[in-house]
Amino acid sequence: MNSLFLLLLVLLFSKDFSGVDGKKWKGEGTTPNLDSIIIGRCYEYIRIVNPAVGEKNCSELLEAFKKAFMNKDPCNILPSDYELFINLSQHSIPPNKSLFWENNQFLVSSYAARTHRYMPLGDTLIGAFGDLLNWCGQANNTEVDDSCPTTEECENNAVESFWRIASINYARQSSGIIHVMLNGSATGGAYPVKGFFADFEIPNLQKERISQIEIWVMDDIGGPDLDSCGKGSVQILEALLKEMGYDITCIDNYKSVLFLLCLDHPDHPRCSVISSALSAQRGPVFSDQGGSWNRLTFISFAPFVLQIHFNLLNQFA
Ligand SMILES: *[C@@H]1O[C@H](CO)[C@@H](O)[C@H](O)[C@H]1NC(C)=O
Ligand SMILES: *[C@@H]1O[C@H](CO)[C@@H](O)[C@H](O)[C@H]1NC(C)=O
Ligand SMILES: *[C@@H]1O[C@H](CO)[C@@H](O)[C@H](O)[C@H]1NC(C)=O
Ligand SMILES: *[C@@H]1O[C@H](CO)[C@@H](O)[C@H](O)[C@H]1NC(C)=O
Ligand SMILES: *[C@@H]1O[C@H](CO)[C@@H](O)[C@H](O)[C@H]1NC(C)=O
Repeated sequence: MNSLFLLLLVLLFSKDFSGVDGKKWKGEGTTPNLDSIIIGRCYEYIRIVNPAVGEKNCSELLEAFKKAFMNKDPCNILPSDYELFINLSQHSIPPNKSLFWENNQFLVSSYAARTHRYMPLGDTLIGAFGDLLNWCGQANNTEVDDSCPTTEECENNAVESFWRIASINYARQSSGIIHVMLNGSATGGAYPVKGFFADFEIPNLQKERISQIEIWVMDDIGGPDLDSCGKGSVQILEALLKEMGYDITCIDNYKSVLFLLCLDHPDHPRCSVISSALSAQRGPVFSDQGGSWNRLTFISFAPFVLQIHFNLLNQFA
């Protein structure tokens, strides 16, 4: 009995000293049901979201994707390991539809509206394989892992290498007017001089196919205005692109995206473009001096207000 108790104690202790939860890596593990999620996303993409891609065998694509990292040391996965997958799943990006970004993934995906407005990397077939997912394999083991290396632990990990080659390929496929959405409230600066856009996308843009680059710097509603066009890190980006010979424009708080941000802050002073139009409509109707209200004002003003409503509805549909 005593020896059994001792054995239990030893087991408990050794577990305590075997590291955090006994997990090998600090990063999140492979997303459960990864294969089903990917197969579903892949067929939804080619059948519903963007049928222009044409016929693809999603099982074959998943096989090529997994071949890049399964049964391998999770710290020795190179972007080139995904080459076959990229070759099989790439499709053209319509001109003027590319949307690059840093530090505002969710704003970009809601603005893009699943290719209806723009087609950022996350809204391509390749992006659909990785968007918000996590994955890695293990050396000499055909299972996925429940913890994965972070980029601090090792740069050549399955997820980092995937997004590197996906970004390179996306930049190469982009043409026409290129849009870039940056976060003017981001602490490290709106344009990270080391980041996917700087390191893998800008160097792979095909200059002769690009007519213009338009930069939008969006500050959070109620957030700090840390960077703007012509200032700070945005100025660095503008200078770099000009030097490379691109025709560039930069817009602070581009109105169309601002409307989307204002959806969550309708009464904030920065959203007053919208609320002032609405109160101008209400004001005379509910005011005490009802008699002085001029019907003609309403008739000429109403279509304008309605149009704003409709524009907003369309933006958010
Ligand atoms: C799709 O790919 C899978 C895996 O490579 C293969 O087994 C299957 O036969 C292919 N299906 C078609 C219709 O080509
Ligand atoms: C991918 O396509 C490129 C260009 O067509 C080709 O050179 C390369 O060998 C292909 N790679 C794989 C692994 O199929
Ligand atoms: C891209 O935008 C430019 C400028 O607005 C326009 O002239 C061109 O027709 C657009 N291309 C496509 C394919 O929509
Ligand atoms: C912009 O960056 C700030 C600071 O990192 C972050 O809190 C905010 O969510 C970002 N804005 C968007 C729209 O993602
Ligand atoms: C995996 O197998 C190879 C060849 O059998 C061996 O050299 C290597 O040390 C193994 N790696 C691990 C992490 O077990």
